[in-house]
Amino acid sequence: MTEPAHTDTAATPSTSGPTRKIKVWDVPVRLFHWILVLLIGLSYATGEFGGFDFIMPVTGNMVPNMNLHMWSGLSILALVIFRVVWGVLGSDTAKFSDFVKGPGAVMGYLGGLFKKGTKVIAGHNPAGGLVVVAILILLLMQAGTGLFAKEDDFFGIAGPLNSLVSEDTAKMLTSRHHQIWEAIEILIVLHIAASIFYWLVLKQNLIVAMFTGQKEIPASAEIPQLRFASKAKAAVVMIIAAAVVWGITQAG
Ligand code: HEM
Ligand code: HEM
Repeated sequence: MTEPAHTDTAATPSTSGPTRKIKVWDVPVRLFHWILVLLIGLSYATGEFGGFDFIMPVTGNMVPNMNLHMWSGLSILALVIFRVVWGVLGSDTAKFSDFVKGPGAVMGYLGGLFKKGTKVIAGHNPAGGLVVVAILILLLMQAGTGLFAKEDDFFGIAGPLNSLVSEDTAKMLTSRHHQIWEAIEILIVLHIAASIFYWLVLKQNLIVAMFTGQKEIPASAEIPQLRFASKAKAAVVMIIAAAVVWGITQAG
């Protein structure tokens, strides 16, 4: 099997010896990640307490929470569409081809986690890559079902495509919206636990790398030059993703 271009089997991934820093995450991936985290927090809060209005701090206007939920959910949908396209057109470490691996690679990686001399991986490891793909798919499903969902407890606020389906179908999709969220919650907990495990047990701080874009690797590890796509290209992809979401909302 061919090795991904950015791995090196010659060194241990733990950063106990001499180290150096390399850039691994581009700005679009980092912005995507942390904006996604903020929006998911907002979607969760407004989804759980959707029936209540809240008062805008400056204007004093009453805003239905559920409207905010839909804006936040639609923004997540645009972000995830962006990320999927960036997974094809983006930088080396953003590409799906870089981190989507078969079950053999995932098991092999997990089996070798505590061994010295295991691979230094610039981008996502095969196990993390699997979780990333699962989160993206579930988020697409979550936003997709949300488009047809209807909140029946308070004001009957509905997603923009709710009128396209029968009441029964809308009920079913709303209940899927709740179930998928539970699956997302489990993956988020797993994902955060894994990040903390790498930091505290394996002594690799992947979290800081998601902020700075730089990973600390053993000085001896030879990582081939990574290619980074331009920010302008990312901006164009993001604008198109937002336009697609706007188009979807107009279909109802
Ligand atoms: C709402 C919660 C979160 C979601 C949905 C989420 C989702 C994701 C996704 C989709 C990626 C892949 C990024 C990409 O390739 O574009 C990622 C990577 C990452 N996330 Fe999160 N994340 C969440 C919260 C967090 C938090 C709170 C932390 C810090 C404790 C964190 C740490 C990381 C790290 C370190 C990576 C890179 C992993 C690696 O080096 O392979 N995430 N996350
Ligand atoms: C990926 C983004 C989204 C997340 C994370 C999310 C999350 C949630 C959560 C946690 C709930 C409460 C579920 C519960 O109490 O068990 C909820 C309810 C709801 N969401 Fe979303 N949502 C998203 C996208 C959307 C979108 C795009 C729309 C519509 C445009 C939408 C419409 C609704 C509606 C109408 C409800 C109320 C359902 C009810 O009360 O029975 N959501 N969402």
